This record gives sequence, C-alpha cells and structure tokens, in this order.
Amino acid sequence: MVSSPPSDHPPTSSELAFREIPGSYGVPFFGPIKDRYDYFYNQGKDEFFKSRIQKYNSTVFRTNMPPGPFISSDPRVVAVLDSKSFTVLFDNSKVEKKDVLDGTYMPSLSFFGGYRVCAFLDTDESSHRALKSFFIAFLASSHAKFIPYLRTGLSELFANLESEIADKKSANFNVNSDNMAFDFVFRLVTGSDPAETKLKSKGPVTVNTWLALQLAPLGTAGLKYVPNFIDDIIHTVRLPFFVIKSGYKKLYNAVYASASSLLDEAEKSGIKRDEACHNLVFLAGFNAFGGMKVLFPSLIKWIASGGESLHRRLADEIRSVMKEEVQITFAALEKMPLTKSVVYETLRIDPPVPFQYATAREDIVVESHDSAFQIKKGETIFGYQPLATKDPKVFKNPNDFVPDRFVGDGEKLIKYVYWSNAREIDTPSPDNKQCPAKDLVVLCCRLMLVELFLRYDTFTAETGKVSLGASVTITSLTKAV
Ligand code: HEM
Repeated sequence: MVSSPPSDHPPTSSELAFREIPGSYGVPFFGPIKDRYDYFYNQGKDEFFKSRIQKYNSTVFRTNMPPGPFISSDPRVVAVLDSKSFTVLFDNSKVEKKDVLDGTYMPSLSFFGGYRVCAFLDTDESSHRALKSFFIAFLASSHAKFIPYLRTGLSELFANLESEIADKKSANFNVNSDNMAFDFVFRLVTGSDPAETKLKSKGPVTVNTWLALQLAPLGTAGLKYVPNFIDDIIHTVRLPFFVIKSGYKKLYNAVYASASSLLDEAEKSGIKRDEACHNLVFLAGFNAFGGMKVLFPSLIKWIASGGESLHRRLADEIRSVMKEEVQITFAALEKMPLTKSVVYETLRIDPPVPFQYATAREDIVVESHDSAFQIKKGETIFGYQPLATKDPKVFKNPNDFVPDRFVGDGEKLIKYVYWSNAREIDTPSPDNKQCPAKDLVVLCCRLMLVELFLRYDTFTAETGKVSLGASVTITSLTKAV
C-alpha cells in the first residue's frame, strides 16, 4: 500500500482517520444510466457533484461517470473533488494514464490515423517519452516565434471584430478567436499560413467537426425542444469517423506537406514519419486548438464581467509598462502583476479541460482534508477540476472572480491552479502528463489582454453557453484616445 505524497496543503491537526469510500454504483446497467440522467438532465454537472458531496459528507466518493452503457464498458470511478485529493491524479508513480484522456471510453483509433497518440499514452510507455520529448524540443525551438506570430494573429482578430461591429453592431468572438487560434497553431507547427495550403479557410470547421465526433458522448446537444431521451442517444452510440474522413485526410496532407523539417526531426529521433504527423495533427487540432477554443472566450467573458473599473486598471498597468519598453517581450509581461493574476484567476475559476482520469497502479491511500481512503489497484480515479480549484479550504470566496487574487502575497496560491494537468508551479516533462505548452498558453492569454488594452479603454460583451464552454458576443469596443 502506498500513501499520498507529502502535500503542499496546510497540515491537518492530527493523523487523518481512514474512512470507507462512500457512495455506490447502483444496479449494473441501470445505475450508470440513472447517474447519466442526473448528470446531464436532472441535476447538471455541478449540482451532480455538489449534491453527492453533501449527501456523503465527503469530497471523495464512488459514482458512475458518463457516457456509460453502451459506450464505456466500465463507468465506475472514485471521484476526488477537493484541492488535496485531486493531486493524486498528477502522481505518475501511483496512477496510470493509459487511454483515459476522454475518461471511461476511448474513441476509435481511426480518428488518429490508427495510432494511440501522445495524450493517450502512459508515462511508462516508451513512445510517450519519445513523443513528449519531441514536442518539448519543438516548443523550445519555436520560442522566438511565439510573440510575433501571436501579435499578427491578434491584430487581425481585433480588426475583424471592429469591422463586424461596424457592419452588424456586434461581433461573434468565438468564431473569430477560433480562426486566429487555428492560424497561429498551424503556422507554429508548419511555418505556413493555412490559407496558402489546400486547406484554404476550412481548417477550423474541419477540426470542429472532428472534435465534436470524438467528444459527443461527453456532452449534450443542449437543444431546447429535443426531449432528453432523444438527446441521450449520443451517449449510447459512438459517432463514426467516416463523416470526417476526407476532411481529416486534407488536414493530415496539409501538415505532412508543410511540416517537413519538423517531421525530419521526428524521424531523426526514431519516430515514424506518419506517426509523427498524426501526432502533430492531434497536437494542433485537439490539444492546442481545442484548448484555445475554450480558454480564449472564457478569458474575455471573465474580463468583461469585471467592467470598466477592471478595464481601467488593466489598461493603466499595461500602458505604463509599455511606455518604458520598445516592444512587448517576455520580460515586459512579467512586470504586469494584475494582468498575470486575472489570467490565473480565469484558469482557476473555469479550468478549460475540466475532467481528469487515471487508474491506480497499485493499492494506494488518498487523503482529502478530512479523511484518508484506500483505493484498490486498477480502480479508476476521476477528478472534476472546477470543484478542486474552487475548494473553499484553499480559496476565499471561491465562486467569485477576484482579479487581484494572485497579486503580491496571493502568488503563493498559484500552486493550487491545476489547469495544465499539474500544479502551476510544476514543469512539463517526458515523465509526467502535464501540458507541454503550459507557459505558451499563459503567454497567449497575457498577450491577448495587452493587445486588447493597448487598443481599447473598455469593451462590453454578452455571454452565454455553448457545448465546450462560453459563447461571447462583443457588443462594443471603446478605442483608446
Ligand atoms: C488553451 C490551450 C491549451 C489547454 C487548455 C491545454 C490543456 C492541456 C491539458 C489539460 C492536458 C492534459 C490532458 C490530460 O491528460 O488530462 C494537455 C496535454 C497536452 N497538451 Fe495542452 N493545452 C493547451 C494548448 C496546447 C498547445 C498549444 C500544445 C502544443 C503546441 C499542447 C500540447 C499538449 C500535449 C502534447 C499534451 C499531452 C501531454 C502528455 O501526454 O504528456 N497543448 N493540455
């Protein structure tokens, strides 16, 4: 039996007592369906977890996770929902991360050219080490391109938003942000502008369809007049790859043709050329584009919610730093504590990838703030990150967006922000499953705010929900005078 690693959470006053993990899986077949209905329709995600935390008086409990029958063969999990127990998911000596990216089911390998791509590999698999090292080296060698490529993309983004507002009085942020994210990632990986390849402007639509087909069992169509039992069909059958087969092929061919120097590097490190290319498509389409698709609208939604007073403070900070600098650099961004803080606060309050799964490699002990629990070898552990990063024992007023939360003394709380599949103070490596682009993602968000508040004094937006996060419509942009 292995116990939890020394925790960076405040010590508890005494040794924690062992407790049987509460909760049940119900009757086979019907239990998982009942949980699925509660999760999607009767209660909704947050209430599903919160009501069970109350019922069992525990942030660790047993439950089924969707999709369940007939897609996943075993939907049973142990949920870990506080900031402390959640960290077991990052300890790769105790948990295995094989084929758990989408939870209790694995999409058909046809979506990935027949390969189990990096994000589905466990740290014990040699191909994980090879691919992750390749990605880390690629990102390190691209460092100098990040800021110029992003600035070009952001200039286009704001010009498009302005012209849409001039034409139609409002602008769809999500569509424009998707286009920018796709162009940025494609250029980073291949060195080419996607419009100059055979993809033309079809990249985002192709990737959106490819993503939706893989991820459909984890969401709902959310259509008002569709009865639940009809909507629930998407949780019972896998959607087929052939719908997007020709689109995927075009995407693959565009990357294959343009990323030749990167593919040469992959071959030199022993990775097959086609395997490397399918991995690059997944990295660009799922990891990068998929993540940005959720995160950028979420950032703008929360910044909009801060209103004119927050906008004034951000604009003052950004402009006063930029008055002293010739251009935007990594060092200049470090001098903007409020800008940094609001980015971490967005990642805390709305982690863009909310679910994490793993399997216990052996019998282990997991501690919440109140109790210790034994998890058996082979059991699936599941974390719902929005609750872990809103743990009231770690964050004051956890449900409020507090712009200054991570300023000054608040910086010591950064380690409890887990969006990258690790603590924010950890470093991505071939031995862990942390997002290798962790620093790039934070940079993208900071730079988006810098470009926004160099151009505009304030802005307004209407926000709502779409299947993968927030929808944002910009209703006004007030130019800086
Ligand atoms: C806003 C953007 C992004 C978000 C929110 C995000 C988030 C994440 C998360 C949560 C994971 C862990 C998944 C899991 O195992 O549960 C991950 C893994 C990964 N991400 Fe990111 N990511 C983003 C952008 C990127 C970019 C730009 C790249 C590369 C250019 C990238 C490459 C990867 C790769 C290769 C993995 C798999 C790591 C491994 O298997 O060890 N991500 N990302």
